[in-house]
Amino acid sequence: MYTEKVMDHFQNPRNVGEIENASGVGTVGNAKCGDIMRIYLDIDENQIIQDVKFKTFGCGAAVATSSMATELVKGKTIYEALKVTNKAVMEALDGLPPVKVHCSLLAEEAIHAALWDYAEKNGLQIEGLEKPKSDIHEDEEEESEEY
Ligand code: FES
Repeated sequence: MYTEKVMDHFQNPRNVGEIENASGVGTVGNAKCGDIMRIYLDIDENQIIQDVKFKTFGCGAAVATSSMATELVKGKTIYEALKVTNKAVMEALDGLPPVKVHCSLLAEEAIHAALWDYAEKNGLQIEGLEKPKSDIHEDEEEESEEY
């Protein structure tokens, strides 16, 4: 049911963890299943993503897609990272079963939310980037034990 690449990224996910004092952090939830994804970006003064880490309370497909997504955005500019869609991530993984396609959206949305956070912190506008729908802010999260 899963491709070898999906199994590989699920079993050996790349870039798991967090970045202290990250340039941007994005946390999103998947309304369908309640799973949560958080992505940390370390962006340098040339707007290049030097490092990226993720943490998730998500299913195997969410782990695999996030792992691949972090690999795809690392070393890229913020504009190149914006083009890393869930479709691109799925292609890089040689496909996902149709029922798992929604899981791949978590990574894309979390990257966008982290870029949005970075832009807000730096007073920038990133062309083509829309305000994340489901970003969960740190302060809201601290009040709730759920995450
Ligand atoms: Fe929730 Fe996959 S089932 S992210």
